[in-house]
Amino acid sequence: ATPLRIGLAGLGTVGASVLRILHRQENALSERCGRAIRVTAVSARDRTRDRGVDLGGLTWFDDPVALARSPEIDCLVELVGGSDGPAKAAVEAALAAGKPVVTANKALLAHHGVALAALAEEKGVALAFEASSAGGIPIVKTLREALAGNTVTRLYGILNGTCNYILSRMEMEGLTFEACLKDAQRLGYAEADPTFDVEGYDTAHKLAILTSLAFGTKIDAEAIHVEGISSITPLDLKMADELGYRIKLLGVAERTKAGIEQRVHPTMVPKSSAIAQVMGVLNAVTVDADAVRELTLVGPGAGGDPTASAVVADIADIARGTAGLPFGLPVARLETAARTPMQRHEGGYYVR
Ligand code: HSE
Repeated sequence: ATPLRIGLAGLGTVGASVLRILHRQENALSERCGRAIRVTAVSARDRTRDRGVDLGGLTWFDDPVALARSPEIDCLVELVGGSDGPAKAAVEAALAAGKPVVTANKALLAHHGVALAALAEEKGVALAFEASSAGGIPIVKTLREALAGNTVTRLYGILNGTCNYILSRMEMEGLTFEACLKDAQRLGYAEADPTFDVEGYDTAHKLAILTSLAFGTKIDAEAIHVEGISSITPLDLKMADELGYRIKLLGVAERTKAGIEQRVHPTMVPKSSAIAQVMGVLNAVTVDADAVRELTLVGPGAGGDPTASAVVADIADIARGTAGLPFGLPVARLETAARTPMQRHEGGYYVR
């Protein structure tokens, strides 16, 4: 069989890890997929930076759109980031040219996921995004494929490693929010603009994607009620502790009488719950569904290798021809998400 030729847009931490993993697993992947996977071209702003990977023999493009259109590639892997601009233009160019796309870009999907899925469907190619939500946790494939026989009633999760790291250290060590945020930035967990992490927007982007998969609704990030963790103090955590709770920043989506409600906020979770055990930069997602009952997946939600693990899984799906419809349903069948006004509960939020 002919090799799948990959064009890799973006050579940051995740991009370099993707190259390393594809190299390390070259033989295993080619056996699993029945064909070789080969990165033939890349695009990145800085050609000179040492990324610790061999870039010899690869064609360089300055512009990800030119990479997407290049006849040297069959599949675009977009790791540029940003909801608009070059990332969006490159993904659109690849899909329009009938090339499948793998992306880790949660902001792009949260804002344009429905339109991009419609374009992919029209062209009969894959748009795969396992890495866009909860990093290394295979929650996209779990919701779309493994839980196909279920009706989901509720989904909630820790979807931002930076916030969970900050809350964990504040709780365990009594440190301030500011001190913990500095460490998260130093360790490379936080987004370039950490407001996205700590004010809950990164969680909201990921929740918007998971809600669509869990409930068959169109992504609607605007419908999400969002509160972050920047006003949480060590005293709040201590008070919660005395009552038998931990405070976690959760993204929650649930079926209510009025429709699907989506919200992001600091939440009191009982210390005995599965989600309360998750400390540090990890992510976790709990799904309540009729057949499987309750399922919790825990794992690394950020970082080069864990995120690249999910990117490579999508590349493998495309190589072996098993990538299905982006949201598991034709876009025309996705329902419009109801916008339910949030009721602020006195004394904070709880999840039982
Ligand atoms: N800044 C994100 C986090 C990275 O802390 O979880 C992964 O999207």
